[in-house]
Amino acid sequence: MSKGTFYITTPIYYPSDKLHIGHTYCTVATDAMARFKRMQGYDVMFLTGTDEHGQKIEEKAAARGMTPKQFVDEIIEGPGGILDLWKLMNISYDRFIRTTDDYHVAAVQRIFRKLYEKGEIYKGAYKGLYCTPCESFWTESQLVDGKCPDCGREVKYAEEEAYFFRLSNYTQKILDLYEKQPDFLEPASRMNEMVSNFLRPGLDDLCVSRTSFKWGIPVDFDPGHVVYVWVDALTNYITALGYENDRYNDYAKYWPADVHFVGKEIVRFHAIIWPAILMALGEPLPKKIFGHGWLLLDGGKMSKSKGNVVDPTVLAARYGVDALRYFLLRDFPFGSDGSFSNELLISRINTDLANDLGNLVSRTVSMVEKYFGGTLPADRQAGPEDAALTEAAAALRGEVEAEMERFAFQNALSLIFKVTSRANKYIDETSPWVLVKDEANKARLAAVMYNLLETIRICTVLLQPFMPQTCAEIFRQIGAGESLRTWDSIAAFGALPADVTVQKGPAIFPRIDMAKELAELEKLTQNN
Ligand code: MSP
Repeated sequence: MSKGTFYITTPIYYPSDKLHIGHTYCTVATDAMARFKRMQGYDVMFLTGTDEHGQKIEEKAAARGMTPKQFVDEIIEGPGGILDLWKLMNISYDRFIRTTDDYHVAAVQRIFRKLYEKGEIYKGAYKGLYCTPCESFWTESQLVDGKCPDCGREVKYAEEEAYFFRLSNYTQKILDLYEKQPDFLEPASRMNEMVSNFLRPGLDDLCVSRTSFKWGIPVDFDPGHVVYVWVDALTNYITALGYENDRYNDYAKYWPADVHFVGKEIVRFHAIIWPAILMALGEPLPKKIFGHGWLLLDGGKMSKSKGNVVDPTVLAARYGVDALRYFLLRDFPFGSDGSFSNELLISRINTDLANDLGNLVSRTVSMVEKYFGGTLPADRQAGPEDAALTEAAAALRGEVEAEMERFAFQNALSLIFKVTSRANKYIDETSPWVLVKDEANKARLAAVMYNLLETIRICTVLLQPFMPQTCAEIFRQIGAGESLRTWDSIAAFGALPADVTVQKGPAIFPRIDMAKELAELEKLTQNN
């Protein structure tokens, strides 16, 4: 039975360049969350997609002698493109929206018209400072050293006839929203930023159409104007459910969204402009916006123009998709920035995956094969070492659930690995290699093996959202069939059948020689 619905989204990505590890970070986090909720029994809608309009794309396409549509099609659907990357990374999205899809285009036109007819949008003239790469207008006071506060690049003066959204009417309404619903935007520091940087000074009306370029959704009642790319983009979260279109029909079922995951630099759009648009439309607001941090490289943001982009396909090919997924969510607290480095990645793989989890699985399965020919006898004898392990394993589901509810992936994973370490310690405490020497200890030895297998099973069920392929292999090795891979099956310790049969397989995570690997990576970088 379904526990209810859970609607989660990633930002829709700009198909202006190949995506890098920073983009992959947010998508992997969303995927882990979506898988976790599905496992718990929720009816999940996981939406991702691409945000394809705007001047930046128009200019890039022109530079390559292509139409904008040809250009984005190649980046999205071409070899090694966005769809390929999500397939490689095992991203289990339920729906993929492209803002060039006909149904979205028509729906945005209807939304724009609706807001205009309600008097929420009016025609005026825009004079101001514009950052082309970020597609954002800024006021003088928002600039940092005269440059765009987001990307640090030059802004230019722009003036054009334009439509405006009455965002200034919403300052107090958004402040009230934050006050009534203090968890609307998390982490809390992001809410403080919104309040002091944008809301306290007061919001200005927002320019929501452009006439200086063509690659956008036309305002159907005023030719020459295209809809501002952020209005086009933000509404994807509802058009993808069928709002103002017939392509889909599950708006009533999934809206409001349970959470929008977004990077910190686009929190302003999601936590101020998006709720204001929804209020103007008279629609419910998303339940939560979570603004995650950036993966930094050499202390700065990754960007193609800085030449410091890390390619997720290269990393996945060298270390495996699951190791990469695990690392991204284990090493960095989701709400804060984190510094990416190859050393960190390799050392995390070696410590947690090869040594801790990998060793535990291979030692346990080998011992069950060696001592019992692969199948445990049903007779088991409890011992004084058991409680510490079995109690920790039994409590794990609830503890991990609490961390996942807060999107604290790092904590959730660290709890699981505390239990795998505990299990390794249990092997040392019980010394199975001593027990095996005396036939009288057979039932005790069987209990030790059983407790280890069951602990591995519980940890593996909880690791599935993070490392789906690896977990399937561990389940195969420890003899846990489909019904033993579920959320319900780990409500208590002991669901694994007493006479389980294991099957040894290859090491799930081979150890990496750090010095050798770093030297090879160095060579790779030089050849590029
Ligand atoms: N198209 C907009 C989003 C519209 S949502 C209605 C956009 N696209 S983007 O491709 O530039 O960025 C997509 C997401 O990737 C953003 O949330 C951004 O924060 C995230 N990241 C880009 N680089 C990143 C890192 N280095 N680290 C973490 N996240 C990063 O913005």
